[in-house]
Amino acid sequence: MEKFLVCFFLLAVIVVLEVHATRESYQQQQKNGRRKLFVFGDSYVDTGNTPKFLANSWKEPYGITFPGKPSGRFSDGHILTDYIASFLGIGSPLPYQSWKSGGKSIQDGINFAHGGSGVFNTIYFQPNMTTQIDYFQQAIKQKIYSKQDLNSSIALVSLAGNDYATYLSQNGTLLVSG
Ligand SMILES: *[C@@H]1O[C@H](CO)[C@@H](O)[C@H](O)[C@H]1NC(C)=O
Ligand SMILES: *[C@@H]1O[C@H](CO)[C@@H](O)[C@H](O)[C@H]1NC(C)=O
Ligand SMILES: *[C@@H]1O[C@H](CO)[C@@H](O)[C@H](O)[C@H]1NC(C)=O
Repeated sequence: MEKFLVCFFLLAVIVVLEVHATRESYQQQQKNGRRKLFVFGDSYVDTGNTPKFLANSWKEPYGITFPGKPSGRFSDGHILTDYIASFLGIGSPLPYQSWKSGGKSIQDGINFAHGGSGVFNTIYFQPNMTTQIDYFQQAIKQKIYSKQDLNSSIALVSLAGNDYATYLSQNGTLLVSG
């Protein structure tokens, strides 16, 4: 959905640096319990929230390398979320939509990212950043995590280009392709 690879790579580098810088302190905190990863943003980090009727990510060849069939990831294999989770020594967090429909494995955190989303509403009509954070706050209110859980948790945010794409498609004179 996004075509702004440069932004993505910069973002990825920043995230990796941040995680690297804080690795030790998180390893320290892990002694207090399993770390959680909370994910917000777009298709670069969405592991299955975008609905099937909307996204090609639920069709082959997406997912054929990992997890072996389409899973809603916008990749044939692992995505940034999976790598960061593995780096932290936890599993990839459950997609929010799976939790909402009864999924229980939230010990690794929750992934609120929806492919196509942005800070603002986009042409893909997915929950924007504010809405994703609202989902997170609603989840916290249900007391599914302790204070200590949250204290040692990490947020991963990816906003790579859907806001730009939306602006260009509505008001721009130049449509980026490639
Ligand atoms: C985010 O989405 C909500 C619900 O559609 C909307 O009320 C809000 O204005 C949006 N926020 C932004 C910054 O576009
Ligand atoms: C949160 O972490 C800080 C720093 O590690 C610590 O001082 C504080 O007691 C922790 N609070 C809770 C509720 O675990
Ligand atoms: C496009 O321009 C209109 C009119 O100025 C504005 O209301 C709208 O928010 C703009 N769309 C985007 C995506 O910026």
